[in-house]
Amino acid sequence: MIIAIDGPAGSGKSTIAKIVAEKLHFRYIDTGSMYRSVAWKSLQKKVTLGDEDAVANIARETKIELVPGENGQSVFIDGENITSQLKEETISRGAAIVAAQPIIREIMTAKQRELGKQGQVVMDGRDIGTVVFPQADKKFFMDADPEERGRRRFTELKDKKQIANADLVTIIEQVKQRDQEDRNRKIAPLKQAEDAILIDTTHLSIDQVVEQIMKTINSGP
Ligand code: C5P
Repeated sequence: MIIAIDGPAGSGKSTIAKIVAEKLHFRYIDTGSMYRSVAWKSLQKKVTLGDEDAVANIARETKIELVPGENGQSVFIDGENITSQLKEETISRGAAIVAAQPIIREIMTAKQRELGKQGQVVMDGRDIGTVVFPQADKKFFMDADPEERGRRRFTELKDKKQIANADLVTIIEQVKQRDQEDRNRKIAPLKQAEDAILIDTTHLSIDQVVEQIMKTINSGP
């Protein structure tokens, strides 16, 4: 069984996907962390993010391991645990840039399909229900007002003390800009799959969203 949860930044999809996976005893896979990993390694190697061939080489040669852990998932790049560095804003921005490149998407999509092949997974991202697993058993698309999503992102960064020189207004703008890029890119844009269930989380608690998703899953095919 494959459960696809897509949506924009701050929609709550990672938090929810993690809890749903735990409840089902499924594996949780955060595909955003894969694009973030490629951006992270490219920046480390001082590769220009817009240089598709160079970034593609990085994507091919980098060993990205997603290890189930206490916080859902830890990310190891070439054996180094870099989980805590991946949420930084430069990496968010970089991930959106590399994610717009067709070769990178091809490499990442293949890796994601390989991971999903074992089944029993909850996978979150932007294109899981549309491109990676169009045949997923259950598909959800989570959304929320941009201001609310910006506020959530701001709180997350503040909690993790990763908020160098940023304020709420700036974060809301960054979230909106990343959405625009993800929605408007030519390949695998962020959009709701026709058969995905839309959940607007703006005024819902985490528990309410989890309950709605679990009810749908338990209701059968
Ligand atoms: O989900 P997260 O915010 O970690 O994703 C970071 C970026 O990676 C997104 O803004 C998007 O550009 C890209 N992404 C993608 N497809 C996915 C997951 C993430 O394009 N399946």
